[in-house]
Amino acid sequence: MKKIITIFCTFFAFYATAQEVSIIPQPSKITFPEKGEFVLSPSTVIVANKKEQNSINFLNDYLQKFYGFKLKQVTKATSNFINLTTPVFVRKPNNEEAYTLTVNKSSIHIQGSSLNGTFYGVQSLLQLLPTTKNNKLPIPFISIEDAPRFAYRGMHLDVSRHFFPVDYIKKYIDFIALHKMNTFHWHLTDDQGWRIEIKKYPKLTQVGGFRNGTIIGRYPGKGNDGEYYGGYYTQEQIKEVVQYAANRFITVIPEIEMPGHSSAAIAAYPELSCFPNEPTKHNARTAWHGDSTTKQVQQTWGVFEDVYAPTEYTFNFLENVLNEVMQLFPSKYIHVGGDECPKESWKRSAFCQQLIKEKGLKDEHGLQSYFIQRIEKYLNTKGRQIIGWDEILEGGLAPNATVMSWRGEQGGIEAAKQKHNVIMTPGGWCYFDHSQTQKEDSVTIGGFTSLEKVYSYDPVPKELNNENKKYVLGAQANVWTEYIGSISKLEYMIFPRMSALSEVLWTPSEQKNEADFKRRIETQKIRYNMWGVNYFGKK
Ligand code: ACM
Repeated sequence: MKKIITIFCTFFAFYATAQEVSIIPQPSKITFPEKGEFVLSPSTVIVANKKEQNSINFLNDYLQKFYGFKLKQVTKATSNFINLTTPVFVRKPNNEEAYTLTVNKSSIHIQGSSLNGTFYGVQSLLQLLPTTKNNKLPIPFISIEDAPRFAYRGMHLDVSRHFFPVDYIKKYIDFIALHKMNTFHWHLTDDQGWRIEIKKYPKLTQVGGFRNGTIIGRYPGKGNDGEYYGGYYTQEQIKEVVQYAANRFITVIPEIEMPGHSSAAIAAYPELSCFPNEPTKHNARTAWHGDSTTKQVQQTWGVFEDVYAPTEYTFNFLENVLNEVMQLFPSKYIHVGGDECPKESWKRSAFCQQLIKEKGLKDEHGLQSYFIQRIEKYLNTKGRQIIGWDEILEGGLAPNATVMSWRGEQGGIEAAKQKHNVIMTPGGWCYFDHSQTQKEDSVTIGGFTSLEKVYSYDPVPKELNNENKKYVLGAQANVWTEYIGSISKLEYMIFPRMSALSEVLWTPSEQKNEADFKRRIETQKIRYNMWGVNYFGKK
């Protein structure tokens, strides 16, 4: 009888442990070799080589911030230690971000296939910790083997419509890291504000970085708040952010929008427009504040006709801007926008019509293609690759471009069929500016993208055959901020959907399980509370 009770208790303990582990994104393989706990406490030490410093720092910062202590780093220990190693040989040559994590009585071992992998092992370890502050933190004996499904796991943030200070950008980058995501797409320029300091063109931020007012409420707005609004990042701040992200194995991809969404740049340098002397136009139903007789930074949302003129002046300007951008961002990719470029100005412009003839282009779509291809060629000569929104397919794709599919999946499917790399960001699943409840009582841009919808997403469209599937690098959530004017609203919009997307991007599709995710998200919400962040469904 005693034996039966022991077996029962052991089974129950295993079961309870398995139930309690709540890692998001769900690792590929978790086993519980035996029953027991390692207790992490202030006397636990870290055994690791200096090259693991980024992982050590992240671990210690997290422990300090949320549990009130940090761990000493030593060269050798026999018990009560965490060992981080990244062997020089790559155990999974096709997945450098893989790691293993084992917890036994005396130690925790994290081994990455690269430094990135080890860092992700640390992220899993942090999610094995209890969610209440204590200096004795029991961690169940466990063995994890894990690797991501996709190489590109991104979060985007629009800082043009609303500006977020550099300290918050760093916090956003921490959230990306905590979800084992690896790319921050920083949308730095748009009609409502230019946010990156460019030394050669100071007016971009002095003039283009600020607007004289903003519409109130949903477009076209119930008036204008009349408040001077804006901000920008200095080059020093940008370097700091890029380094901060790199320390977390996150690449920052800057987006410099062209040829559309360029009102802020045109307000600073009107010669960039086909019609420098025409004032900025806006919908007659929207209230404007201040001067409306010249080029102005937009005060309302939408798509605007005044776009870059495809002149030598503009190309020279953009090349100079991109030179400074490349100095600041070491990323392989530079995002050049390419979306929502109305063709009215180019149709009205004698210069553009002449250029279309001269270059033997079919029409204005051909001209957009010429524009993007010219920029691509320039960036390629500097060793960089472009990403563009799916409109860059219209009129012919630039030869080496990666397509970001946002108007549904069709652009991504088409690009993959043309053997171009693709990043999926289709509105219905990946737009975190959409409402996440039918009963949303704050203003959003519209749409309805629930947590379940995000979780259900598969970035590889069924239409692609095995050969073309490999062009899908991954996916990303886009966070447009027309109606996101504060940090608390931003967090409300990204959490918990970001946690769902992280699992879409990381966990093998056959292991996704919505019911289990819903169980784990409850623990995740307690972590959000611990992190001090806002989220939808807050408790
Ligand atoms: C986009 O949402 N205009 C890319």
